[in-house]
Amino acid sequence: MKCIKSMITSIIYTMFIILSMNEVCYGQEEPSSDVTPMEKQELEALYSTIQGFVGDSWNGSSLYPDPCGWSPIQGVSCDIFNGFWPELFSLKYLKVLSFFNCFQSPNSLPVSIPTGNWEKLCENLETIEFRSNPGLIGSIPSSFGVLKNLESMVLLENGLSGRIPLEIGKLVKLKRLVLSGNNFSGSVPDNFGGLRDLLILDLSRNSLSGKLPSTFGNMISILKIDVSHNFLEGMLINEFSSLKNLTLLDLRNNRFCCGLVSSLQEMYSLEELVLSNNPLGGDMRNLKWGNLKNLVILELSNMELRGQIPESLFELKKLRFLGLNDNNLTGEIQFSKGFFGKLGRRFGAWSNPKLCVPVALMSSNNVPFGVKPCHQQQEVHLVKANARKQILNGDINMKNNTSNFIPSMGFSTSANSCFSSIFIIFGLLFNLCNLGV
Ligand SMILES: *[C@@H]1O[C@H](CO)[C@@H](O)[C@H](O)[C@H]1NC(C)=O
Ligand SMILES: *[C@@H]1O[C@H](CO)[C@@H](O)[C@H](O)[C@H]1NC(C)=O
Ligand SMILES: *[C@@H]1O[C@H](CO)[C@@H](O)[C@H](O)[C@H]1NC(C)=O
Ligand SMILES: *[C@@H]1O[C@H](CO)[C@@H](O)[C@H](O)[C@H]1NC(C)=O
Ligand SMILES: *[C@@H]1O[C@H](CO)[C@@H](O)[C@H](O)[C@H]1NC(C)=O
Repeated sequence: MKCIKSMITSIIYTMFIILSMNEVCYGQEEPSSDVTPMEKQELEALYSTIQGFVGDSWNGSSLYPDPCGWSPIQGVSCDIFNGFWPELFSLKYLKVLSFFNCFQSPNSLPVSIPTGNWEKLCENLETIEFRSNPGLIGSIPSSFGVLKNLESMVLLENGLSGRIPLEIGKLVKLKRLVLSGNNFSGSVPDNFGGLRDLLILDLSRNSLSGKLPSTFGNMISILKIDVSHNFLEGMLINEFSSLKNLTLLDLRNNRFCCGLVSSLQEMYSLEELVLSNNPLGGDMRNLKWGNLKNLVILELSNMELRGQIPESLFELKKLRFLGLNDNNLTGEIQFSKGFFGKLGRRFGAWSNPKLCVPVALMSSNNVPFGVKPCHQQQEVHLVKANARKQILNGDINMKNNTSNFIPSMGFSTSANSCFSSIFIIFGLLFNLCNLGV
């Protein structure tokens, strides 16, 4: 489906609400009944919610007399909205609530998430999403804690701040929790360990501080953890060893210290381990890297690592990216012949002043950028300048991989529920494209 770009530019505020009302539309446990119409009261609440966004001139009853049929509402812009929350809370069958690209002005028109009334939606609401709303400010209301059936909470790239309320850790049905790209501060709540069904945890790009709670080890189902770009500190936790299904661990750009812990080598499912830009220190040889047979990306640059590079790293068959640059690694790099051919520029080892490559390996195709031949000092600086430029490409490639990982999964639940639910979508074709509808 093609996006119509010209529509996008003409619209100031856009949003959509997705309502999934299987029970209303298809009746409950009544095999003989065909599609039944929405309750009149429910219908009116729905129209009036939308009017709250777009103004009273919008006439839902004539445009969309039967929202239970497939009649998506598109291309409607919302200029000024006031007092729409009360109508929203009368939609007691709401399953999915999503605001995308709607609240845009943190200065002139800031909006906060209301604190009351969420209990009215608690029976049915499964997904709540606020995405790309810089004008959405304030904190997460602790009253979100009543949404006991919530499976997905995505508060991505808004203007939210404050502490993450403890109540979030009590939403035990959560499978996905994404709070990335706001300015949350304070520590990661201790009770997140109670989220035993959680598959995806993304707290990246905030101002979180303090240590990782040891209770993280209780999130036994977890597949992906991203807490990168915060101010987290302290040791990496021993409890990582319980996370046997974890495929992504991204801790980059924090203040973690005190060396590589052995629990890292017990997360056998890991495919991407990204620890760069932390003052971690320690010796790489302390870990059995050979255990991590599924590793595809290993990013350990700028971590104050010292000692020799363990040869077991060069034997990881699935490895496609290895970042060891900007450390204090020493000795000769003993990579096998096939290894460099496979990784090429995606192997970074520059800016390790005491690292060198054996002369025997220095054929023209086998030179890691910025690493000098052993026992020779000349020409290093020339190579280095060139290397930085070229390795950057590899690095960006890798960043594309990791940073796209979690956000790209954001709409999967909504897309799945397309089949048997009605959508009241209001916003742009652009939104629909994102949904893959
Ligand atoms: C909306 O349309 C219906 C049917 O055409 C009409 O009866 C009703 O008066 C309209 N309402 C408004 C507010 O314009
Ligand atoms: C984020 O919050 C902290 C305080 O918690 C504040 O010092 C900082 O300026 C904020 N950053 C932005 C970009 O608003
Ligand atoms: C881990 O993954 C396996 C295979 O997908 C699955 O059978 C198992 O239930 C998962 N373990 C947990 C604790 O979720
Ligand atoms: C490397 O180690 C030396 C001392 O052995 C230290 O002075 C220097 O700061 C270290 N460099 C880095 C990048 O960690
Ligand atoms: C990274 O992704 C962006 C957008 O998908 C693309 O334009 C860019 O070329 C990619 N960078 C590399 C190095 O592949």
